[in-house]
Amino acid sequence: MSTNQIAIDGPAGAGKSTIARMVADRLGFIYIDTGAMYRTAALYLLREGVDPSDEKASAAAVSLADIQLVNENGNQKVLLNGEDVTGKIRTQEIGDAASLASRYGAVRRKLTALQREIAAKGNVVMDGRDIGTTVLPDAQLKIYLTADASVRAKRRYDQLAERGETGLSLSEIEEEIRARDRQDMERKNSPLKRAEDAVLVDSSNLTIGEVRDRILDAYRRSAGGDRRDS
Ligand code: DC
Repeated sequence: MSTNQIAIDGPAGAGKSTIARMVADRLGFIYIDTGAMYRTAALYLLREGVDPSDEKASAAAVSLADIQLVNENGNQKVLLNGEDVTGKIRTQEIGDAASLASRYGAVRRKLTALQREIAAKGNVVMDGRDIGTTVLPDAQLKIYLTADASVRAKRRYDQLAERGETGLSLSEIEEEIRARDRQDMERKNSPLKRAEDAVLVDSSNLTIGEVRDRILDAYRRSAGGDRRDS
């Protein structure tokens, strides 16, 4: 079966998951958050007391972790050895550990294989760092979604403030975002970069609705876009 695939890559805080979910809802596709899989691998490492900077130990541990994405009533859940850990992976600590562990070839190979298996089963919008370049190189539409680091930092700052989490200053958050960008873009294995055939969308001065509509327009224009209901 040939499936329709939309790949959305970009740096942390560009709004990928919000937008990817909206686009998937509009098109009736399944949304796959690959960052959640790296975060779940990182949670496993931290629980097992493995240092995510230790490649050998991280690769050995992740090979033993059973990571699954399941969709329940349109909501994605992530399971670690059968336990629903969806609510436990959104911390800064897990994000940092995920960024470290995602540098390793063995970790990437395992999660890439899982991601391709899911994409083979149905129409998907998949977001991450290497979807257009590595996981789904034949995706019918590839988007590189980015925004200025200062804009991403401000959005993150506002989100945290809304939740009453005011621990970090705006400039500290921006520094963290820049450090994460460097780590994800400069790694050897499948670094974050724009695929040659990806449509660049800079959301710095766009609303969420405008970004969504640009992507939906690009999808409709993409060759075979009219196959989406088949
Ligand atoms: O998108 P996120 O913040 O949930 O991702 C956490 C980390 O996981 C990110 O810093 C790098 C890694 N990651 C990756 O290397 N490849 C992906 N396809 C998705 C995430």
